[in-house]
Order: sequence, then structure tokens, then C-alpha cells
Amino acid sequence: MRSRIGVLISGRGSNLQALLDAQSAGALGGEIAVVLSNVESAPGLALARGRGVVGVFNDHRGKPREQFDRETASILKEHGVEWVCLAGFMRLLSAELITPFAGRMVNVHPSLLPAFPGKDAQRQAWEHGVKVSGATVHLVDAGLDSGPIVMQEAVPVLDADDVETLAARILAAEHRIYPTAVARLLQEPFRVEGRRVVFGTVQ
Ligand code: GRF
Repeated sequence: MRSRIGVLISGRGSNLQALLDAQSAGALGGEIAVVLSNVESAPGLALARGRGVVGVFNDHRGKPREQFDRETASILKEHGVEWVCLAGFMRLLSAELITPFAGRMVNVHPSLLPAFPGKDAQRQAWEHGVKVSGATVHLVDAGLDSGPIVMQEAVPVLDADDVETLAARILAAEHRIYPTAVARLLQEPFRVEGRRVVFGTVQ
């Protein structure tokens, strides 16, 4: 049976769209069962519903982090979710949400990690003056953007770039590697050796 995926978002949802497009093309290796947003007006929530996917709003306001995370985990479980994709989910995650999906939660980040974790990664890279940046898909652990790396794509930083043009080039890379990385994780054997994600069976 194909793995059931839950996608957590807070906003635009362009990575969600890339995942949905891959699913429609039969290239995701799983089925997006539910999209959950902590922001009711998130365009990605409307996008999900428009594509026939259950869209759930769970308000974080006025709740302790652990409570919101516990609720979110149980909504995902109610929908039979096995794998969780973070796609612009602007929340720090507690163990209440990470532990139930340990090793089965992925995130996409707009830099070549471990460079420039956290917010505004594209601006951090541009201001630092690096000549290459990119996108990273990684497994989620308890740290901030610190889990084992699954896939990366580098993009050049051009002299003529401003933060917006650089962010657009990185976003295009995100849209390529996120569905590809998820499809590999769902369909290929892999193991985590220290910090290294290694695909294939042990010889
Ligand atoms: C992406 O740049 C992602 O890497 C970061 O937040 C942004 C979300 O964009 N975590 P979108 O909502 O997927 O369009």
C-alpha cells in the first residue's frame, strides 16, 4: 500500500504544489492524505482543498507549544499519516510532534545546510556573499534545520542577484528536489549512519 503523507504548511504552499504535482504524475510514491496549516488564510490550504485533499486548520494561538504539537500529531494520526513533510511550516517543533514520526519527517530548507539554518536563509546567504547556495531536504531531528541530509541542489549566486532573484532560483531547486527526495525515501531502502543518509541495501 502506498504511504500516507501529511503536509504541514503555514503559507504560500508552492512546495506543497510541487508534491501534489508529483503525486498526480505518479512520481511521489505516496498519497497526500491531509494538509494541515496553523494559519487559516494560508493559500496552500485553499490549494490543497482545490486539489481534493483534506485541508485542516489548527490554530496555534493561545496554546502552549506542546498542546498544539500534540493536537497536530493526533490529527495526522487520525488521517493514517505515516510520513510528514514540512513545507514552509513556520513553527519550532517540540518532541510531542517529532517523536511520533521519528525518522519519518522531512523538511525542505532554502540553503545548503549546515550553512544558514533558521529564518531568511536566502537573505543570510546573499548578505554573507557566498557564490553558491541552494536547497536541502533533510530528516527532522530535535534541532533547528539540523537533521541528516537526504538531498541537496546547488545554485549559483550571481553578481546581479538581489535577495528576491536568488530566492526564486533556490525555490525552483526546492521544487525539483523535494518530490524527488520524498519519492526516494518512500520507495527505496535507506539507513542513517551517523549523520549520513545512505540509500540501498547493505551488501
Ligand atoms: C520555502 O522556501 C521553504 O524552503 C521554507 O519556506 C518556504 C516555503 O515556501 N521552509 P512555500 O510555502 O512552499 O511556497
